[in-house]
Amino acid sequence: MLTFPAYRELAASLAQALGCELDQVDVHRFPDGESLVTVPPSRPGTLVVVCGLENPNDKLVELYLALGAARDNGAERLVLVAPYLCYMRQDKAFEPGQAVSQRLIGEMLSGWVDDLITVDPHLHRTPTLDAALPHCRSTAVSAAPLLGRFLQQREDGALLMGPDEESRQWVEAVASHCGLETAVATKARSGDRAVRITLPDRDYRDRSVILVDDVISSGHTLAEAATALHERGGGPIHALCSHALFAPGAERLLQQAGIDGVWSSNAIPHPTNRVDLTPSLAEAVRRMVSPDA
Ligand code: R5P
Repeated sequence: MLTFPAYRELAASLAQALGCELDQVDVHRFPDGESLVTVPPSRPGTLVVVCGLENPNDKLVELYLALGAARDNGAERLVLVAPYLCYMRQDKAFEPGQAVSQRLIGEMLSGWVDDLITVDPHLHRTPTLDAALPHCRSTAVSAAPLLGRFLQQREDGALLMGPDEESRQWVEAVASHCGLETAVATKARSGDRAVRITLPDRDYRDRSVILVDDVISSGHTLAEAATALHERGGGPIHALCSHALFAPGAERLLQQAGIDGVWSSNAIPHPTNRVDLTPSLAEAVRRMVSPDA
């Protein structure tokens, strides 16, 4: 197994679960911003590469160089574990001339590897991960079983709420593993940091609510949902997500909106990580690499 320094912790835990050795890519940044990427010698056969793709623009180039170097060094089959898969949200041209990044990045990335494993990819209008990654085999691991098990330890009968229709799939999946009641709000977005949330009509007074979404990016979606819930007397309010993207200022925004705590999976390394995805990812790698075992 091979990883980049930022994913060392998750990769070490995965390598231990799978009983394989872990090596690290060395990245040197030249003064002009280009990268020198060096990989240790590979044994022939399958190489599992662990590299998340949040903040992806530089990372994509360094990953491409590392994968190419690994092939040059003898790796025969490359399995990429990218717990966060970038550029999946732009799945159509909303305005004329916009790049459909899901299709373009998906075509590019899936041409670099033989297999790709990710967690809760943001597929809304695209039916399957295979459709977004046409040139390799792919598996979408669901964080829901482990997120749901994490919530099972709570005994306050909280309401699981999705902030928008796109989150329905995540809310229902988590609920199916913890048995909590669910509700889904509606969202109108008018800009990167401008959203309006309308809550379904019900009594929220003194109701503990856990907001569930696949990603928290600017934090505005969940902050608006929390504000709306407080206005209706709801609380305490927590947030649960698969991918803690957390753009600058997001944590503060969530605090200011009265969110009492955020819990995330370790698909993206972040101080809010509470749910370790190692068991589900290790199982996915095992099935991918030796489907008959
Ligand atoms: C969109 O449909 C996603 O599921 C999230 O709700 C959204 O991307 C979160 O973004 P932000 O935190 O910037 O509001």
